[in-house]
Amino acid sequence: MALILGIESSCDETAAALVTDTREIVAHRLAGQEAEHTPYGGVVPEIAARAHVEALMPLVEGALADAGKSLDDADAIAATAGPGLIGGVMVGLVTAKALALAAHKPLIAVNHLEGHALSPRLASPDLKFPYLLLLVSGGHCQLLLVEGVGRYRRLATTIDDAAGEAFDKTAKLLGLGFPGGPAVERAARSGDPKAVPLPRPLVGTADPHFSFAGLKSAVGRARDAGRWSSEDISASFQQAVVDCLVDRTRRAIEAVRVERSRDTLLDCARSERGAIRALVVAGGVAANGAIRTSLQQLAAEQGLPFVAPPLWLCTDNAAMIAWAGAERFAAGLTDPLDTPARARWPL
Ligand code: KG4
Ligand code: ZN
Repeated sequence: MALILGIESSCDETAAALVTDTREIVAHRLAGQEAEHTPYGGVVPEIAARAHVEALMPLVEGALADAGKSLDDADAIAATAGPGLIGGVMVGLVTAKALALAAHKPLIAVNHLEGHALSPRLASPDLKFPYLLLLVSGGHCQLLLVEGVGRYRRLATTIDDAAGEAFDKTAKLLGLGFPGGPAVERAARSGDPKAVPLPRPLVGTADPHFSFAGLKSAVGRARDAGRWSSEDISASFQQAVVDCLVDRTRRAIEAVRVERSRDTLLDCARSERGAIRALVVAGGVAANGAIRTSLQQLAAEQGLPFVAPPLWLCTDNAAMIAWAGAERFAAGLTDPLDTPARARWPL
């Protein structure tokens, strides 16, 4: 059994976790920065980096203490090496490098998106490759075919804003506070999703991608019109996002099926291996109840199992980084100590 220490610091959550390759989350500690960023209505990178510096080592020591372990007990040290706010990523990665050097442990540089992409396998042992992943967070909105550890095929991405960004901007426009996603979801509960006519960019088109910028502008116009409550705007906005996510995901499932049936004609075995085993959602926006419910319905309609990690594993955390580290470690993938921190790093 391997024990991995994981560190996350790419945005506004500082976290440390100890996870085994047998899926035991031995310890997890997390510190948010809501109080620091709330006065600004969004994450301020410089403030975030300083807060990571202060929070990280106590969290690492706390996680080790919770587990009754020392650094010597860890088999490897995994940290987010990007993409993200570069100051924060550097804090986490440099800390992991120092610990790896001091304790003579291998370093595993984890792509934050890979952390989200593999997190469903931590919570659901039966989830096998390949699966179709809708990765929806504050910085990303992608459909990925997850074929194995380190084997990700991007089928679609956003051509402008990420879904979480649209939630955050809507919350700001409506004065609902920060962080935006949970605030919009709360307001939407007492609103009418059909009240405000809002666009569904790219829905029904052959284009595989996502687009949310037009929706965000329409929310601004609806607010300025002064005809609707913020609850009705929130509910209508959330429904528009749901419709976009479901339509794009359905399109991707169908596109992969068409591709696989073409493969079948050529090579039966290849197609059997390649059939999608499940529809999976991950990333912070996957914490949204309406989105989870409609994706679950889509999976049922398509005859696929639906897998969504528990809410706390959807938003940024260190258990998913430790787990991605465990999967990479098992595959013999470790990284040199001069691995760079990267603000941009496509999967
Ligand atoms: O994955 P994550 O924690 O950080 C990134 O890697 O971006 O995702 C954060 C995003 C934010 O945009 C936040 O507003 C959104 O996830 N989010 C939600 C909900 N909870 C968090 N969006 C919609 N509904 C929620 N309940
Ligand atoms: Zn994230």
